[in-house]
Amino acid sequence: MKKILVTGGAGYIGSHTVVQLLNSGKDIVILDNLSNSSLGVIKRIEDLTGKAVEFIEGDIRDRALVRATFEQHTFDSVIHFAGLKAVGESEAFPLRYFDNNVSGSIVLFEEMMRANVNQLIFSSSATVYGNPGSVCYTEETPLSPINVYGRTKLMVEDILRDLQKANPALRIALLRYFNPVGAHESGRIGENPFGKPNNLMPFMTQVAIGAQEKLMVYGNDYPTPDGTGLRDYIHVEDLAAGHLAALKALEQNASITVNLGTGKPYSVFDMIKAFEGASGVKIPYEVVTRRAGDLSEYYADPTLAKKVLGWEAQLGIDRMCADSWRWQKNNPKGYS
Ligand code: NAD
Ligand code: UD1
Repeated sequence: MKKILVTGGAGYIGSHTVVQLLNSGKDIVILDNLSNSSLGVIKRIEDLTGKAVEFIEGDIRDRALVRATFEQHTFDSVIHFAGLKAVGESEAFPLRYFDNNVSGSIVLFEEMMRANVNQLIFSSSATVYGNPGSVCYTEETPLSPINVYGRTKLMVEDILRDLQKANPALRIALLRYFNPVGAHESGRIGENPFGKPNNLMPFMTQVAIGAQEKLMVYGNDYPTPDGTGLRDYIHVEDLAAGHLAALKALEQNASITVNLGTGKPYSVFDMIKAFEGASGVKIPYEVVTRRAGDLSEYYADPTLAKKVLGWEAQLGIDRMCADSWRWQKNNPKGYS
C-alpha cells in the first residue's frame, strides 16, 4: 500500500490527524523536526492506535533528508502541517518565518515533484483573509493578511496555485483552519505549547491547573454583544476529520480550497463560562487593553466544505472545553 507523508505530524493538529489516519487503515510516515513538539507524542499515538509509527526526526528544509525520505518510501500523498505559527514571533523574526514556512515548503514541493507524488493537503489559515471588513469569511473573501505569519500562508497557497497551473496532474487541497481547540477524548494527546501560551484555550487550561495566575481578557470594548472578541473555535478532532474528508474528495476534485470552521462564533466570556461549566474550576480573569493586531470578530462560512468535502463540524464548545481540560488535567507538564 502506498503511504502518506505527514510533515509536522508530531504537532497538535498533525498528531490528532495521524491517529484518525491510522485508525482508518492508512499507512503513514511522520517527518517532524520537533521544534514545537515532543517525541513523547509518538508513543502516545502508538498506544492509542495499536500501530507502530514510522517517525523521521528532521527538517523539511534539509533537502538531502527529504529526498532520501521520498526515495525510501512510496507515497501517494503528502499532508503538510510543518510550520511555525506564532503571529507575534513572526512579526519579530520575519526571516525565520519566511525561511521555515515558505523556503521549507519549496524544498518539500520540489522533492515531492521529483518523486512524482501528485497529491497534497496544505494547512492554511483564516489569517490569509486579514481584515476584509466582513466578519463571515467565505472562500471568495479577499485575501490580504495583516501579519508575517499570514503572509507566509498566502505565499504557499499562491505557490501551490501556480504549481498546479504548470502541472495539471497535481491534486491539491488548501484547508483554511479557524481556531482549533480541544484534544483527543482519551486525554492522551493534546495541545502542548512550549513556554507561555499565546492562545485563549491553552492559557485558560493553564490557569485552571494553577500554572498561570489569571487569564488576561484582551479588551471588553469591542463592538460585540459582551464587548469581547468573537472567534470560530473548532474541535481538533473535527479538524482532523476534515483532512480525511479532503483526501477522499481529492479523488473527485483536483483543486480544493475550503474553510474549516463551525460557522458559530463565541466570545471570550462565552468560552470562560463554557470552560468553567465543563471543568468545575473557576477561572480568575482581568480585563486588560486590546492585544495589538486582534480583530473584533470573524468566523467561517463552512458551506463550501460541506458541499465539496461532505464534511461539517460535529462537536460543540462544551465538548471542546471538556476535552481540553481532560488533556491538561491529566498532563500538567505536557508530554514530559
Ligand atoms: P504545531 O506547532 O503543534 O505543529 C507543527 C509541527 O511542525 C510541530 O511538530 C513542529 O515541530 C513541526 N515543524 C515546524 N517546522 C518544521 C520544519 N521546518 N521541519 C519539520 N517539522 C517542522 O502546530 P499546529 O497547531 O499543529 O499547526 C499545524 C499547521 O496548521 C501549521 O502549519 C500551522 O501554521 C497551521 N495552522 C494552525 C492553526 C492553529 O491555530 N493551531 C491555525 C491555522 C493554521
Ligand atoms: C491567533 C492568531 C491567528 C492564528 C490563531 C490560531 C493573533 C493576532 N492571531 O488568533 O493568526 O491563526 O491564533 O489559533 O495572534 N484572548 C484573550 N486572552 C488571551 C488569549 C486570547 O482574551 O490570553 C482573546 C483574543 O483577544 C481573541 C480570542 O481570545 O479575541 C482568541 O484568541 P487566540 O486564541 O489567541 O486566537 P486568535 O487571536 O483568533
